[in-house]
Amino acid sequence: MKTKSVPRRPADRATLARARGPHAPSDPVSIRRVRHGDLDQIIAIDATVTGLEKRNYWKSVYRRYGAAGPAERQFLVADAKGRVVGFIIGEVRDWEFGSAPCGWVFGIDVEPGSRLAGIGARLLEAICASFRSADVRKVRTMLARDNKLVLSFFRSQGMMAGPFIPLEMDLDA
Ligand SMILES: CC(C)(COP(=O)(O)OP(=O)(O)OC[C@H]1O[C@@H](n2cnc3c(N)ncnc32)[C@H](O)[C@@H]1OP(=O)(O)O)[C@@H](O)C(=O)NCCC(=O)NCCS
Repeated sequence: MKTKSVPRRPADRATLARARGPHAPSDPVSIRRVRHGDLDQIIAIDATVTGLEKRNYWKSVYRRYGAAGPAERQFLVADAKGRVVGFIIGEVRDWEFGSAPCGWVFGIDVEPGSRLAGIGARLLEAICASFRSADVRKVRTMLARDNKLVLSFFRSQGMMAGPFIPLEMDLDA
């Protein structure tokens, strides 16, 4: 009798990534904390993705989340033999919006030429590991409704719609 293959559930990916453990020294991509010398490459990746070069913004993000920051603030890069090919930024926030302490992912980018090779998943897994070590058990993010790529990515990693909704209004009306 032909057996039906069972589709892998999205949440299984995160479990598999954890189970893979540390990567071998021959692995061409490593995930590490950002360094000041990475900023130009990060600014260039962000400009490629968003079409805007925001040098002052990235300098300020580096000051807040950069190398010397506390464990609760994470700015990680994917380093392919000395070249930055992606990054992720996030932070543990306590009791905001009435929520118990949780990790927030604010930004993630992988340069277009390095996508679909598992780098985004490894960046997310690395930041989740640091959130776990900061003793939180939940990770959240926010994304534009029409950003199907980022939605597909986060869904594939096991993230689901949460209990909060964003609200906004124009201040110059
Ligand atoms: C989203 C993003 C980070 C994914 O990075 P990546 O390294 O390509 O992701 P991975 O290779 O780890 O992919 C993991 C899973 O995500 C999903 N995924 C990734 N790219 C996808 C695509 N183009 N279409 C559909 N699903 C996709 C897949 O399920 C994939 O698993 P699979 O390859 O086994 O099918 C990357 O595409 C990116 O930087 N996009 C732009 C991000 C952006 O707009 N940032 C600004 C707002 S924060």
